[in-house]
Amino acid sequence: MIRAEIIGTGSYIPEKTLTNKDLEKMVDTSDNWITKRTGIKERHIAAGDQASSDLAVEAAKKAIADAGIDKDEIDIIICATITPDMVFPATACQTQKKLEIKDVAAFDVEAACTGFLTALAIADSMIVSGNFNKVLVVASEVLSRITDWDDRQTCVLFGDGAGAAILSATDEDRGIMSSYLGADGNYDNILHLPAGGSKLPASQETVKEGLHYMKMEGRETFKIAVKKMAQSVRIALKKAGLTIDEIKMVIPHQANMRIIKALAKRLKIDIEKVFVNIQDYGNMSAATTAVGLDEALRGGNISEGDIIQLVAFGGGLTWGSITVKI
Ligand code: ACO
Repeated sequence: MIRAEIIGTGSYIPEKTLTNKDLEKMVDTSDNWITKRTGIKERHIAAGDQASSDLAVEAAKKAIADAGIDKDEIDIIICATITPDMVFPATACQTQKKLEIKDVAAFDVEAACTGFLTALAIADSMIVSGNFNKVLVVASEVLSRITDWDDRQTCVLFGDGAGAAILSATDEDRGIMSSYLGADGNYDNILHLPAGGSKLPASQETVKEGLHYMKMEGRETFKIAVKKMAQSVRIALKKAGLTIDEIKMVIPHQANMRIIKALAKRLKIDIEKVFVNIQDYGNMSAATTAVGLDEALRGGNISEGDIIQLVAFGGGLTWGSITVKI
């Protein structure tokens, strides 16, 4: 039986930090409010000349080096992002160009914070089908470009970053064991970016009204996030024939420390079993779980033979969970 195993990971976080103290000077907020209500202490902001593909390339290079493969062994690139370099061509194609990998297929996945998991699930199916052998999955976001820096309800939450993984076909007993993805388009109004698409193209009016920035109903999103993430973990575990006790670590999307704690409570697991780095980066949408996976591996939280659970939730609404044996 062919499985898709993760043979290398990497991440890239832009140098510039924006602390809660910095935000106090920009909007009516406080370090105390942000820390208590979200768990975030700082986030990173891409340099003016960095687009999503630039961050993606840095993360991808590290994942390729970690996997110990030649970049030309990669036969498809999937990029998860809601902040593409431009509407088209795909950021995956820009990443392919900058990595100088010739001719291989490349496309983007848009599933907001669930993007990395969605891309992993697609890569898994492509490998298991026997059509592809080595897949570069990269999640990259420059959310600072779609953040309204005058809106205290959203600007304190987001940051920029990228994470990548190389998936490879294996007949050994490791890799992706199960995946579950879900969505509900009826919730399009609680988490969205209204303008710049075919529904509401860019105009002086849309720019004046700030419709090119993310809008979010925080409370409503919070409630659904907790419920759907817990449900996703249970479904993926059932598909894998496992119980939560067999999971070494849960790596969840990092939108709010209170959501992470509520998830741990619903899953009846100790918070120590949940990977947390929200304090350093805030919410990096699709990049969050990719960076989390890389940091958990690099930091020794998880190692070969461990079974881990990735889980995410985001705009769409979308949600999902993936069980992986390292
Ligand atoms: N600083 C100070 N006060 C603030 C701030 C701020 N940055 N933001 C809001 N407040 C105020 C509000 O105005 C409100 O004041 P009021 O009581 O006088 O009206 C009060 O704080 C409470 O506001 P709430 O919105 O109820 O605060 P809540 O505890 O819900 O926290 C938050 C807000 C952090 C946004 C939370 O709801 C949350 O994390 N939601 C989920 C976010 C999420 O999961 N996003 C998913 C993915 S994002 C993606 O897909 C791109």
